[in-house]
Amino acid sequence: MSKSATYLTFCKIINRKTFYSTVKYQLELGNRASLCTIGSSKNINKLKTVMNLESRLEKLKADNLFRTRVTRTSKVGRYVSIEGKQMLNFNSNDYLGLASHPAVILAAQDAASKFGFGSTGSPLMSGYTSMHQELEYAMADFLSYPKVVLFSAGYLANLGVAQALLKRKDWFIQDRLNHASLIDAAQITGAELKRYPHLNNQKAETIIQADVNRFKLWATEGIFSMDGDSHDLFSAALSAHTYNAMLWVDDCHGIGVLGERGRGVLDTMTLSEAEIPILSGTFGKAFGTSGAYVAGSHDLIETLIQDARTYKYNTALPIPVVAATLKALEIIQTEPWRREKILELIHLYKTGCEQYGLAEQAKFSDSAIQPIMLKTESAALEKSAYLKQCGIITTAIRPPTVAKNQCRLRITLNSELEREDIEALIQCLIGNY
Ligand SMILES: Cc1ncc(COP(=O)(O)O)c(C=O)c1O
Repeated sequence: MSKSATYLTFCKIINRKTFYSTVKYQLELGNRASLCTIGSSKNINKLKTVMNLESRLEKLKADNLFRTRVTRTSKVGRYVSIEGKQMLNFNSNDYLGLASHPAVILAAQDAASKFGFGSTGSPLMSGYTSMHQELEYAMADFLSYPKVVLFSAGYLANLGVAQALLKRKDWFIQDRLNHASLIDAAQITGAELKRYPHLNNQKAETIIQADVNRFKLWATEGIFSMDGDSHDLFSAALSAHTYNAMLWVDDCHGIGVLGERGRGVLDTMTLSEAEIPILSGTFGKAFGTSGAYVAGSHDLIETLIQDARTYKYNTALPIPVVAATLKALEIIQTEPWRREKILELIHLYKTGCEQYGLAEQAKFSDSAIQPIMLKTESAALEKSAYLKQCGIITTAIRPPTVAKNQCRLRITLNSELEREDIEALIQCLIGNY
């Protein structure tokens, strides 16, 4: 894109009419010399005033909502190095410790040597290799779904599914606490977004039965990313079936981690494609790699391949990532002890919290996500800073990720942690450091 065209697009995005029309006028005149004035200090100041970035950032800081990235300088595992200091890892989504697993790393290295690194294009151009195909087949087999398609990220998968399936007059029914990618997906479809209170199947059912003839896509997370809890998906599936809605479960935090075979809510609630026609997830969590998948019927998946713009117009996953994911999937299937270890740690954590008077603050779940509720932004920030001093890393979760007064520490358990680490965490949580 030429420089002037880029400016035009930029001006459209910020949608400041006067500024935009000036630039458009200059472009229409074909007066290249006058375009130079865009870069003048007067115009830069004007742009600064229009966008107001400085005061936006200041406000975030004043409201305790400013995000600071912590710089990791090591592999992830039981410990991570943060800014040069070794800390106990209660922070990552690498629930099964596969991100740094030697066999996963080796698989990526071997694939890079044999196939190269980048996939070189969208899956519909040059980016689809026999390895991508092998992973799709292996995932379909693992989940017992007819067909699977890979995306480059869970975020993109969610946008792609919604955009490919929904039209303007359709309804997109969602749990109020669904992940941002599902909420954002609603925006790009133009379908009507209808949200119901968290986990409230009855309210959801009231919505879907209001118009039986309309196409309704009902999306929920399997294990909720910030709360670790889950719907009664069997009754959700029953309502969806009765009132003609299509149920879509994004089980990013369940698949790999929960269930006898590691198939997340499919295993823990004994469900299958019959109840959940669309199942999606990411490789960025329990698999320890990156990318995502959507599972469904042949027709559904073929529709996504044909119509999902985030599939068609996005470079396919790098080959080493695909190879690493295949290895991670093998470990998920053959090493159930990792899931058993997490269950043991969950049990220890809960009994420890109860013993030390933390049960009220702790919002217990049956998953690896165990929030400690702290209400305010400052309380969450202070607690996570205190834990950092204790040598424990967690994240303070604040709006807009969660609602106001729902700030929390998002504690995650992983199979690399040991029993004594849970004890250390609880001692720090009660201020005993
Ligand atoms: C429920 C849920 N869906 C989708 C995503 C996005 O996945 P990815 O990180 O692969 O884009 C996440 C990641 O945080 C998630 O928690």
